[in-house]
Amino acid sequence: MTDSPAPSAAAGAPNPLRDPRDRRLPLIAGPSSMVMFGVTGDLARKKLLPAIYDLTHRGLLPPSFGLVGYGRREWSDDDFAEYVKKSVSEHSRTGFDESVFEQLRGGLRFVTGTFDDKAAFERLTEVVGELDRTRGTGGNHAFYLSIPPDAFPQVCGQLAKSGLNTPQDGSWRRVVIEKPFGHDLASARELNDVVEKAFRPEDVFRIDHYLGKETVQNILALRFANQMFEPIWNSGYVDHVQITMAEDIGIGSRAGYYDGIGTARDVIQNHLLQLLALTAMEEPVTFRASDLRAEKEKVLAAVELPEDLAAHTARGQYVGGWQGGEEVRPYLEEDGIPADSTTETFAAMRLDIATRRWAGVPFYLRAGKRLGRRVTEIAVVFKRAPFLPFHSTDTADLGQNAIVIRVQPDEGVTMRFGSKVPGTQMEVRDVTMDFAYGMNFTEESPEAYERLILDMLLGDPPLFPRQKEVELSWKILDPITEFWAENLDPAPYRPGSWGPDTAHDMLARDGRTWRRP
Ligand code: BG6
Repeated sequence: MTDSPAPSAAAGAPNPLRDPRDRRLPLIAGPSSMVMFGVTGDLARKKLLPAIYDLTHRGLLPPSFGLVGYGRREWSDDDFAEYVKKSVSEHSRTGFDESVFEQLRGGLRFVTGTFDDKAAFERLTEVVGELDRTRGTGGNHAFYLSIPPDAFPQVCGQLAKSGLNTPQDGSWRRVVIEKPFGHDLASARELNDVVEKAFRPEDVFRIDHYLGKETVQNILALRFANQMFEPIWNSGYVDHVQITMAEDIGIGSRAGYYDGIGTARDVIQNHLLQLLALTAMEEPVTFRASDLRAEKEKVLAAVELPEDLAAHTARGQYVGGWQGGEEVRPYLEEDGIPADSTTETFAAMRLDIATRRWAGVPFYLRAGKRLGRRVTEIAVVFKRAPFLPFHSTDTADLGQNAIVIRVQPDEGVTMRFGSKVPGTQMEVRDVTMDFAYGMNFTEESPEAYERLILDMLLGDPPLFPRQKEVELSWKILDPITEFWAENLDPAPYRPGSWGPDTAHDMLARDGRTWRRP
């Protein structure tokens, strides 16, 4: 999805869809470095550093790539290299190879400092300059803020004071920020002001790692590269859509983060609403960032909340019990969680979309921790055939047709439809037809972070939401979380179940049931 700048229309611009270059060849990042704040955190250790190593292994980073860790530890460059080595040997996707690591190692640097340490930022400036001189990074530097948002003002302020945010002589400076992008609309705006004081909007890359997942991008391929789905992708044929993000894990060691935020802000505001937008949006003119974002924004702006939030949303919190043969603690007894916490670990809601395409088609979203199993999917469930010329008992077991996009695991697409049961009767029952990535392609899908880090280094923004999308998503969520805070404590649910009874009641009121993924 390269977003190469289009010549102006006035100059008789070529249609970007007719670009004669062969786009199948992977693009390689140009000379550059990345400075990582929060490098000792879980995300960096398990995802970011391995992704950088995997990109190096795949030959997609320049041999001179620089990676600078910034943190409080009193580490030398060699200490940092050992830390990176441990992280990538434990978590890389492509397998550890000493020679690949040696290539990366040459560009590893560490700067000790706190987020407001002026002298440390001066040292950082020197290190970045040294990389330019000795490794030809060409003044192109990305700053990855894998840190809590309340540290953004200090870091962005210091980057601006030291001039690290300012590119020179045709080079670039970019900043990468991780969610949560605020905890409501007002704080998202404040956060954005802080970041955009130091960086131009086009140099801010907001990571929603779901957009880096192959299967999420496949929503676009499925819908817009085929003839057979789009004609039925509307209220004439679709009964409703269910978007599920279920996790079997609890909150692990993230109590501090999670208890302040809850499921709706953690994953619905970003991942699930992005899935909704890609599923429901109109066809973009091209996949260039501005076109794709414009369509997502249009559909997010058309989302409507149910009038009765008590009846059409649900909130849950896991209690103790058994899951997969293991005893698990209740949320309220997890380390670091206050015994009276009312944070939800499960959230569900009905959203409607006020457009001609989707009028009357509810989108049901649900997400939670400690559910039956780890699965993320989008199920487009179709209306029943208007007439069934069968004996009623022959179709007693016939459900509704569905197209299910399995985001993870077992990435692929399933279609469910009715088929004749072998025998003398005309009995019809549901069957499924399955496309699995693993069975059809030999290439393994890259990790989301590989794709996103590479795109950021290439300056290719379509897979990064812009501020407007973030704000539209908060506008959808804020009334729900405000209503919950005032009126709805989370209902209990057992670990390994599919959420609280209230979530099932919510669909039952509409005469529907959740799919059992
Ligand atoms: C993160 C959430 O964005 O996504 C986590 O903060 C969640 O709570 C994680 O566990 C799930 O990501 P994935 O890629 O494993 O589905």
